[in-house]
Amino acid sequence: MEGKLVRLRAYEREDLDNVMSWVNDPEVTRTMASFPFPLSRGQEAEWLEKAVMNEGDRKVFAIETKEGEYLGGLGFMKIDWKNRNLEFGIVIGKKEHWDKGYGTDATLVALDLAFNRLNMHKVYLRVFDYNKAAIRCYEKCGFKKDGALREGFYFENRYHDVILMGILKHEFLEMQKKASDTPRS
Ligand SMILES: CC(C)(COP(=O)(O)OP(=O)(O)OC[C@H]1O[C@@H](n2cnc3c(N)ncnc32)[C@H](O)[C@@H]1OP(=O)(O)O)[C@@H](O)C(=O)NCCC(=O)NCCS
Repeated sequence: MEGKLVRLRAYEREDLDNVMSWVNDPEVTRTMASFPFPLSRGQEAEWLEKAVMNEGDRKVFAIETKEGEYLGGLGFMKIDWKNRNLEFGIVIGKKEHWDKGYGTDATLVALDLAFNRLNMHKVYLRVFDYNKAAIRCYEKCGFKKDGALREGFYFENRYHDVILMGILKHEFLEMQKKASDTPRS
């Protein structure tokens, strides 16, 4: 699945070194809930095995450049086929590639998949209030603030709000239409 800058592809067992290259980098994981401890190759191999099979209510994909360089991953969690919503998460694990538009492009590809191919009604996410780059990236993709879990996350000696953001299918389609109606300069 391709965007303007990135491609989403299935995870392969051979991605273990790619994943290990960032999972223990505190600069990358400081904004992620699931990494309070150092992670071993064994733990990641187990995670990767699940990612390769992509079964159940969770689907994850690797993000790479169009030239095939691994950048990170993104995922759909808690896929709810009745209420037609899912929780979104993303990481660009190679921090030298931050702020180049890759996160935004990958999120837009994921939203296209969620709304236009899986027929989801809503995509939502949780982001810590100090993660300004992620909030900006999500806003650029059309997410709006739904609310906040006040002081829901403890990090570096204090509690932070967990911001809830979401985008509805019609909001995404309107944004897509506007983008395709705008002539390129
Ligand atoms: C969040 C993340 C996916 C964004 O990916 P990215 O490729 O850097 O995102 P983009 O380049 O598309 O967009 C980032 C935007 O944030 C802006 N930004 C960066 N740091 C910022 C800051 N401290 N304050 C405000 N805006 C900031 C950038 O300027 C850019 O906006 P612009 O295009 O208007 O200039 C990436 O930073 C990441 O993986 N972080 C670690 C894991 C993580 O936090 N995941 C999300 C958990 S909710």
